[in-house]
Amino acid sequence: MEKLVIKGPTPLKGEVKINGAKNAAVAILPATLLIDGVCTIDNLPHISDVMISCEILEKLGAKITWNNKNSVTIDTRNIHTTKAPLDLTSKFRASYYILGSMLGRKKEIEVGMPGGCQLGARPIDQHVKGFEMLGAEVTVGNGTIFATADKLVGNSIYMDIVSVGATINIMLAATLAEGTTTIDNAAKEPHVVDVANFLNTMGADIRGAGTDVIKINGVKKLKGNATYSVVPDQIEAGTFMLAAVATRGDLLIKNCITKHLDSITAKIIEVGGIVEDYGDSLRVYCKKRPTKANIKTLPHPGFPTDLQPQMGVVLSLADGTSIINESIWESRFQYTQELNKMGAKITAQGKTAIFEGVEKLSGAPVYSTDLRAGAALIIAGTSAHGITEIYNLEHIDRGYENIEERFKSIGAQIERVKE
Ligand code: UD1
Repeated sequence: MEKLVIKGPTPLKGEVKINGAKNAAVAILPATLLIDGVCTIDNLPHISDVMISCEILEKLGAKITWNNKNSVTIDTRNIHTTKAPLDLTSKFRASYYILGSMLGRKKEIEVGMPGGCQLGARPIDQHVKGFEMLGAEVTVGNGTIFATADKLVGNSIYMDIVSVGATINIMLAATLAEGTTTIDNAAKEPHVVDVANFLNTMGADIRGAGTDVIKINGVKKLKGNATYSVVPDQIEAGTFMLAAVATRGDLLIKNCITKHLDSITAKIIEVGGIVEDYGDSLRVYCKKRPTKANIKTLPHPGFPTDLQPQMGVVLSLADGTSIINESIWESRFQYTQELNKMGAKITAQGKTAIFEGVEKLSGAPVYSTDLRAGAALIIAGTSAHGITEIYNLEHIDRGYENIEERFKSIGAQIERVKE
């Protein structure tokens, strides 16, 4: 078993370069199944969710060639099965994108029920509704999802809730469908736009991604033979921004799209931090104790749920009492129990948590309960006095490349230790 051992407190200082977005990468890799050709994906984060996505593609018959640790060439000309490996697909959430891609490509697919972080109920009814409206039959049961269609035909699909996964999945399935599909009340997250950009680069005809109406004019085939570079990770950039504030440090966060970070920038300024915008990089610093603020997580362009735990660390150290209202995932406050072990004063009930700010956190053994909780605990450990030990690193490794080396490069005293 591995753990991270952090000695704090350390104000994080220096430069950090943001990697490609996990949530875009885990959708773009399955999207290559629509191509029936060869393409290259650059700026892939080297994380376990990406490695498993590639393994699933290989099991379906794709040929994967690594050009370097962040670039892969994928040949999808020989997809020979419509049964995705159940053990691998149930390891992470985004395996559901195999459904949309393979429905589009082969009109049939069986996958294991998607796994991923335990953030509460994670229904897939909107995905199923979308596939059915395109003409597929979907059967969910016995730990698998089976989808099949004679043909897919475009339709007007209204999403009952704003869902990133369902929006992308319907886009994938509709890319090669006959006619036009319209997704109303679509998710607007940067990774939705990135998947649309990838598909358009490969020959799809998708318009409106980034707004709440996406129109997909079905095309007969995608041409491939192109290289695509994954968008910088909004959540990773936000994680480092909030790490700068919580540790009262000073970071230059390079290679980010600053517009994607507006909601985080606004909250950092509200708590007394400074954000300087240089277009493709941000300087974030905070010289004094942050002040209280209230947060409500919302779909993009609202404050992202995936940065709520990292913001929770800032608010646990703030002057005054703050409230976070989590509107996306009902079990996203598990990390607050871990922060309380470090001296935070947080009361979480249902979708609301009250943060009575404390002057300092103290190191303690803590457990990463999910991916973003893990990132929050690294920030907390770097801010806290004494030694913090973080367990359950597999969650963190799913989404952050080489996390301890990158924190070390900006001054953190952090080591990965085998027990
Ligand atoms: C994606 C992200 C995840 C992020 C989340 C919200 C990936 C791989 N993961 O997850 O990191 O926290 O967006 O920004 O991109 N819902 C339904 N029915 C459905 C689908 C979703 O009720 O069919 C509900 C969910 O329970 C949740 C809300 O809709 O309350 C948003 O979920 P969704 O946007 O679909 O999240 P994911 O795509 O799973």
